[in-house]
Amino acid sequence: MSKTAILEIDGNKYEFPVIVGSENEVAIDIEKLRAATGAITLDPGYKNSGSCQSEITFLDGEEGILRYRGYAIEDLAEKANFLEVSYLVIFGELPTAAQLAQFEKDIHKYTLVNEEMKNIIDGFPKTAHPMGVLSSLTSALTAFNPKVVNVENEKEMYEAVCKTMGKFLVLATWTYRKSSGFPLNYYDNTKGYVENFMRLMFELPTGPYKINPVVVNALDKLFILHADHEQNCSTSTVRMVGSSHAGLFASISAGVSALWGPLHGGANQAVLEMLEEIQKDGGDADKFLAKAKDKNDPFRLMGFGHRVYKNFDPRAKIIKKAADEVLAELGVNDPILNIAKKLEESALQDEYFKSRNLYPNVDFYSGIIYRALGIPTDMFTVLFAIGRLPGWIAQWKEMRVNKEPIGRPRQVYVGAPLRPFKPMNER
Ligand code: SDX
Repeated sequence: MSKTAILEIDGNKYEFPVIVGSENEVAIDIEKLRAATGAITLDPGYKNSGSCQSEITFLDGEEGILRYRGYAIEDLAEKANFLEVSYLVIFGELPTAAQLAQFEKDIHKYTLVNEEMKNIIDGFPKTAHPMGVLSSLTSALTAFNPKVVNVENEKEMYEAVCKTMGKFLVLATWTYRKSSGFPLNYYDNTKGYVENFMRLMFELPTGPYKINPVVVNALDKLFILHADHEQNCSTSTVRMVGSSHAGLFASISAGVSALWGPLHGGANQAVLEMLEEIQKDGGDADKFLAKAKDKNDPFRLMGFGHRVYKNFDPRAKIIKKAADEVLAELGVNDPILNIAKKLEESALQDEYFKSRNLYPNVDFYSGIIYRALGIPTDMFTVLFAIGRLPGWIAQWKEMRVNKEPIGRPRQVYVGAPLRPFKPMNER
């Protein structure tokens, strides 16, 4: 691979360095492009532009590969637990048993949320979407933890990580408890992280809550599969906001808002709503495939397609297998799962989807498992956020520790040229 790229503009040749990553990804370093040529690049949606060099996650969209810190997602989903993977994603190495136990113990220091946060959540109507409430509550954490994190100080950074992991989970479940009119629960430091999620969501003062290990295992695996995904929309948002040196809570709050969109993390809710619509409409998957292919119809096949994966999303394969296992273990026979499989089968054979390399993504099957676990549909994207939290933290930390510059893209102006001011009576 040549070490430089040559660009010719108006007969002038310019040379730019070529960077090759540890998995042989090739990038042209254009840091000096505008100074040297006066030109900028234009790349809507950044489909061809790298924003950073990162050691956290490697994706190969053509081969359908996903690795966190070099470990294959298939191994991590099968052999590790969510806190173990969170530690790996954030600190770069799989923890020893002692490090993992200490990490969980240090998270426990921060699982009690300031009681005054309840005044904020009480200000929301019950009908508020949980993602909007979660974004607001996460940002409000800054009000109760105003101290700016010195990212150069490892101890301060570690504490901020543990505080975020501890409080975000509680706040995420409070969004559901609020909309259901149930009292807000407290984290129980004698129980596991994912067990606590189920307790915080569903335990009622009227009696003990029975933890189902099948449900906890399935959720633990789902959280692992969502933990990071390199520079996706919400992670890029967290990096962008953090690049102005805004705090970790404010940056994550922005990431929650970006994830909410139905083209991104909101797709898992949109998939379930789409499958229920197909079911209500008589279960004719082909009719909806035709709508998805019709350029005049804004309908898209939710849970299909991906900016990077032009092959099967490896997470979708794992979740599809888990969906069969979890529903069987729970004795759930959900016709929606059969509609999803029929839709997938038809789409994978359809020229429109094949020619555009459109495959099921992480959101296509996750909602079916969440529904079988008793999670309400409008909480699906909140679960995506809980899984993605370690990735957001890791990427924010890497960006700050590497002292990356404030994000500030350029543009090509195509508006009106200079013109004289027009007095009101001449408009
Ligand atoms: C996530 O980036 C990440 O890593 C995200 C994520 C993560 O872990 O963070 O993986 C999580 O967000 C997964 C994606 C969830 N979103 C959905 O399932 C929504 C449905 N998918 C699409 O909206 C779309 O596929 C995107 C947004 C995911 C990707 O869009 P791109 O890369 O911008 O692709 P595109 O819009 O340029 O589409 C290329 C072609 C177009 O047709 P032509 O103009 O070439 O004729 O494919 C078509 C699109 O119309 N197309 C679809 C389609 N997705 C793309 N047609 C019908 N149904 C779809 N789902």
